[in-house]
Amino acid sequence: MLQLSIINGPNLNLLGTREVDIYGNQAFDVFFKSLRERFPEVSLSYYQSNVEGELINQLHQCRTTQQGIILNAAAYSHTSIALGDAIAAIGVPVIEVHISNVLAREEYRKTSFIAAKCKGSISGLGLEGYAL
Ligand code: DQA
Repeated sequence: MLQLSIINGPNLNLLGTREVDIYGNQAFDVFFKSLRERFPEVSLSYYQSNVEGELINQLHQCRTTQQGIILNAAAYSHTSIALGDAIAAIGVPVIEVHISNVLAREEYRKTSFIAAKCKGSISGLGLEGYAL
């Protein structure tokens, strides 16, 4: 079975109540359950942390267990060279996902330190971006 892991970064534990005009009103655990039902052929796992080093440790763990990673590194996407290095180091394809369209927001969100290390990026399609 295809092993895919979703990794969410800081503040995404508050999805559903956080800036709902931007991120919507669905909690991620509810969405994750529906995702599992939609893709029974995939073994989907989910990890969230607000801590940069923990996200890096999680990426390292995926190195030997996962065939792909769906990563929303949230604000760390715009700041973390270390996360970019971790993606380059693990040799597992990573897709960068953002719920909002980061290119249509503040200037500082237009920089991604992880995009060039990822296989591709999806931004602005809401939670459906994870399904894609
Ligand atoms: C986000 C966009 C980031 O700029 C922001 O810091 C987030 C969420 C998104 O999913 O749209 O926390 O990654």
